[in-house]
Amino acid sequence: MRTVETRTKIALKAVILIGGEATRLRPLTCNTPKAMVPVLNTPFLEHVIHYLSQHQVTEITLAQSQRQQSINNYFKDGSQFGVRLNYTVEDTPLGTAGAVKNAEKYLDETFLVLNGDIYTDLDITAMMEFHRDRKARVTIALTPVDDPTSYGLVETNAQDRITRFLEKPKRSEITTNLINAGIYILEPDALAHIPPQANFSFERELFPLLLAGDEPVFAYLSSAYWIDIGTPEKYFRLNRDLLRGKYSAAQYALSPGKKVQTGKQSHIHPTAQIKGAVVIGDNCIIEPKVKLTGPVVIGHGCTIQSGAIIEDSVIWHNVQIAPRVVVKNCILANGCCLNANCIIQGSTLGDNVTIASGCRLAPGSLIWPETTVEP
Ligand code: GDD
Ligand code: MG
Repeated sequence: MRTVETRTKIALKAVILIGGEATRLRPLTCNTPKAMVPVLNTPFLEHVIHYLSQHQVTEITLAQSQRQQSINNYFKDGSQFGVRLNYTVEDTPLGTAGAVKNAEKYLDETFLVLNGDIYTDLDITAMMEFHRDRKARVTIALTPVDDPTSYGLVETNAQDRITRFLEKPKRSEITTNLINAGIYILEPDALAHIPPQANFSFERELFPLLLAGDEPVFAYLSSAYWIDIGTPEKYFRLNRDLLRGKYSAAQYALSPGKKVQTGKQSHIHPTAQIKGAVVIGDNCIIEPKVKLTGPVVIGHGCTIQSGAIIEDSVIWHNVQIAPRVVVKNCILANGCCLNANCIIQGSTLGDNVTIASGCRLAPGSLIWPETTVEP
C-alpha cells in the first residue's frame, strides 16, 4: 500500500455526524454521549479525529442535534488535536442529510461526511482519488458485513456505480453483503437537493433521490477494518480488536510485542498477575494477587483490591473493585463499585452502579446508572 505521504496532499473538510440518540448503546450512553465513550481510555471521537487528520482532513464540523457541552469542552477549537473544529447544533434533530445541510456554510468544496460511530482504517486518501477519477457527485464507501439488516444495503454495477440503496433491508430483501460504511465524499452541489432546516436522511431520501435522477453516485469498496460501535457488544468488540492488534494503524493500540500499557502514577503490586493485552490508565492501584487476564482495559483512577480477578473486560474511570471480586466479559462504566466477593459475568453496568457484597449477576444483565444491586 502506498503511504499517505507519497500521494497528492489535499486539505480536506469533513463533517462528523454526532447527533444520534445512541439508544442502542445504553446504559453506557445514559450520561455519556456516544462520541465520548472511552476506547482504550481515550474518547471515541478523539480516535476518529486523529484518523481523519492522518488523511489530510484539516477542518471538521461536528454536527450535533443538541448541544453536548462535554464534547465542546473537551475538543474546543481542535488545535490540540491538529485540526480546526466547527460546531453546529440543530433546533430539532434534522436527520443525517439535514444535519450536513445545516453545516453548509462550512462546505464550499468537495467534502467528507462520516457517521460519528464508525471506527475504521479505510484509506480516505485513496477514496478521494477514486471520487475525482470517476467524477462522482457522491461516493459512498462500502464494507462487507455478515448481516446487512441493521445497515444500508448497496447494490452496484460493474462500473462501480450504485444502482440501489436500501436502508435496513428485510432479510428477504438481501441481495448482497455490501453495506454503506457511513463514509461519504460529496460535491457541495449535492446539498442543493436537501431542504434547509427540515428532517432529511441520506439513507432514506437523498441517496434514493440521486439514484432516481441518474446522478453519478459511486461505490468505493473497502475491506479495511471497519466497525460501528452502535451496541455494547460491538463497542466491546472494538476494544478487544484494538487490544489484539487487529487494527494495525491505530495510534492508541498496543504496539506489537507490547502487552501491558500502564498510565502515569499507577501502582501495580508485584504479586499481581497480568496476562494478555492489558491497558491500565493513570492513578490506578492494583493490589496484591489481583489477576488481570487480557484483553482488559482499566480506566483512570481505578482501584482493584487484593485477589480480584478481571478477565476480558472494559472498565471505565474511577471504578472500585473490592477484594476477591470476579469480573468476566463485562463493561463497567464510570464510578461503579463492586463490593467484596461479588461475581459478575457478561454484563454491562452504567455509571455509578453498586453491587453489594457476595452478589452474583445473571449473565447478560444490563444495569442502569445509579442502581444498587442487593443479593
Ligand atoms: N447531527 C445529527 N442529527 N446527527 C445524526 C442525526 C441527526 O438528526 N441522526 C443520526 N445522526 C448521526 C448518529 O449520531 C450517527 O453518528 C450517524 O448519524 C448515523 O446514525 P445511526 O443512528 O448510527 O444510524 P445506523 O447505525 O442505524 O445506520 C447508519 O450507519 C450504518 C453504518 O454503521 C446508516 O448510515 C446505514 O446506512 C449504515 O450502513
Ligand atoms: Mg450507527
